[in-house]
Amino acid sequence: ILWIIGLLLAAYLIGSIATAVWVSKRFYGMDVREYGSKNGGATNTFRVLGKKPGTFVLLFDVLKGWIATSLAHILVQVQAISPENLIYYQLAFGILAVIGHVFPIYVGFKGGKGVATLLGMVLAIQPQAALICIGIFIVVLLLFKYVSLGSMIGALAFPLLLLLIPEFHPDKPVLTIFAFLLAGLVVYTHRKNINRLVNGVESKVPITLFGKR
Ligand code: G3P
Repeated sequence: ILWIIGLLLAAYLIGSIATAVWVSKRFYGMDVREYGSKNGGATNTFRVLGKKPGTFVLLFDVLKGWIATSLAHILVQVQAISPENLIYYQLAFGILAVIGHVFPIYVGFKGGKGVATLLGMVLAIQPQAALICIGIFIVVLLLFKYVSLGSMIGALAFPLLLLLIPEFHPDKPVLTIFAFLLAGLVVYTHRKNINRLVNGVESKVPITLFGKR
């Protein structure tokens, strides 16, 4: 039980590492949350500070979700839980990391929107579905140029894949249920983006299929 409590806490604290805030403060002498969309995430780091810090924040935020979720394997190894219960702990740790990312304890509980960390979690639990979600995200991004729209559709794609594709049907329905709840959380964290999308004022990214604008 001590293992479980300790790792639950660790998962939240790992998720809480506010990469975008840290990078922008440490290397650029500013807080990325005061610029652009005011979000403490990878997209806004790309927007405000450029490709290099943006890529770093993205990869680090994905890694947080992956590491936190993978902590569950330690519990199996120390025989604190049985392997068939692994998914419950992967879910608990992954969700705590996503919550830590959105509400980070170190920087006033104002972090990012949870997408990259959720991706890390899904990569740890169901990597094939995660790759399809990334593909869907990229297609939406190329078609519409809105990261936020791609993020929301990508997050919703995961539970739908679990539900609709027989190969992805999880052994335990709890995964599908929480995948839907997490997609709901992502839609919730994007509520301002949804407003902007509806009003036609959401910022677009300057990318095209063939490299020309
Ligand atoms: O993952 C966050 C992204 O979907 C939207 O970020 O900065 O455009 O609000 P942003």
